[in-house]
Amino acid sequence: MTNIIIYGSHYGTTKEYADELSRRTKIQALPYEKIKEINNYDNIIYLGAVYAGGILGMSKTLNKLNNIANKTIMIVTVGLADPTDEQNIHNKINQIKSQIPKEIFEKAKIIHLRGGIDYSKLNFAHKTMMKLLYHAVKKLPEDKQTAENKAIIETYNKKVDFIDFSSLDKIIKEIKK
Ligand SMILES: Cc1cc2nc3c(=O)[nH]c(=O)nc-3n(C[C@H](O)[C@H](O)[C@H](O)COP(=O)(O)O)c2cc1C
Repeated sequence: MTNIIIYGSHYGTTKEYADELSRRTKIQALPYEKIKEINNYDNIIYLGAVYAGGILGMSKTLNKLNNIANKTIMIVTVGLADPTDEQNIHNKINQIKSQIPKEIFEKAKIIHLRGGIDYSKLNFAHKTMMKLLYHAVKKLPEDKQTAENKAIIETYNKKVDFIDFSSLDKIIKEIKK
């Protein structure tokens, strides 16, 4: 059985989770850009940063899977919004569903973690996107404020770190099953 941790990370928070998970499980962690043949692995743990609903590198990587009958697949999202918020979980599951083939989605175990953001490190495109989003969501009434909107408002222009390695326990528990 060959295991792999694959991650898609732009600013490093998802990589931090992937590296710590790798340290704790002794499973190799590689960025998705370095995966040459995804079909060589039996157990795949994909950690992807969330960017405007997209899970970085996920569809590009998992869409190349051929025969998944004997494989296990775990998808771990790393975003800013509260990963315990029901609506956020619901939205993220639907986003994943729309980005990968049905049979992979149905097989995948999905887990959500919280990352962080440092506005001083964002590139121009990301800074502009967050500025537009912030001004749009700030205008919404309180009852329309989702966990994602709240996270944007509360962290706007700041440096915040919600990384919590103890949240990796639920992934490790799943791997051991
Ligand atoms: C342009 C942009 C869009 C984002 N979109 C979302 C989003 O839709 N949902 C969410 O929960 N977090 C969103 N985030 C927050 C990132 O998912 C969060 O910062 C994550 O920790 C980044 O991972 P990385 O450091 O591995 O790149 C966004 C951040 C940026 C800069």
